[in-house]
Amino acid sequence: MSFRQGNALELPFPSENFDIVWTEHTQMNITDKEQFYGELSRVLKPNGRLVFHDIFFGTASNPHYPTPWAEYDSLSSLCTQEEAKDAIEKSNLVIHEWKDKSKQSLEFFKKMTKKIDASGPTPLGIHLLMGKTAKTKFLNQVRNLEENKVSIIQGTALKI
Ligand SMILES: C[S@@+](CC[C@H](N)C(=O)[O-])C[C@H]1O[C@@H](n2cnc3c(N)ncnc32)[C@H](O)[C@@H]1O
Repeated sequence: MSFRQGNALELPFPSENFDIVWTEHTQMNITDKEQFYGELSRVLKPNGRLVFHDIFFGTASNPHYPTPWAEYDSLSSLCTQEEAKDAIEKSNLVIHEWKDKSKQSLEFFKKMTKKIDASGPTPLGIHLLMGKTAKTKFLNQVRNLEENKVSIIQGTALKI
């Protein structure tokens, strides 16, 4: 296994190079959705699979900030599920699975915030990357999921 750091909007790989491409909670930090999904598609071989687990707007507007991915509204590039589907389908990808994991994510964040309340954060954890507002970010993720301001989707799409 090897790791390469690069810009998701200009992936440092040749076209039709991978059987599987996976993206995890990154799309909401990228404004240009068509370029993002276009690059993921470009590096996939024909019949290759895009696997994603991502955050989108929910049915209610105005998520509470800070969130785990953005300190302020202006730093967030959330889009609707429909906008993401549109960008994926414009990128030579056919959506195969689209599973709403908002409930599971809500349970995860509720458990995490309860644990932090009871015994404080673990010595090593993602809170170290989130700075002083880490706890508020976790609490806002719970509120945003409870109030349907964000939604979590796990899915796959196949390269044409
Ligand atoms: C909310 S974090 C998620 C990190 C990790 N995937 C996770 O689930 O814990 C979003 C990540 O996307 C990265 N990112 C934003 N724009 C990017 C780009 N154009 N190319 C590569 N990474 C990018 C950020 O640096 C950040 O590490």
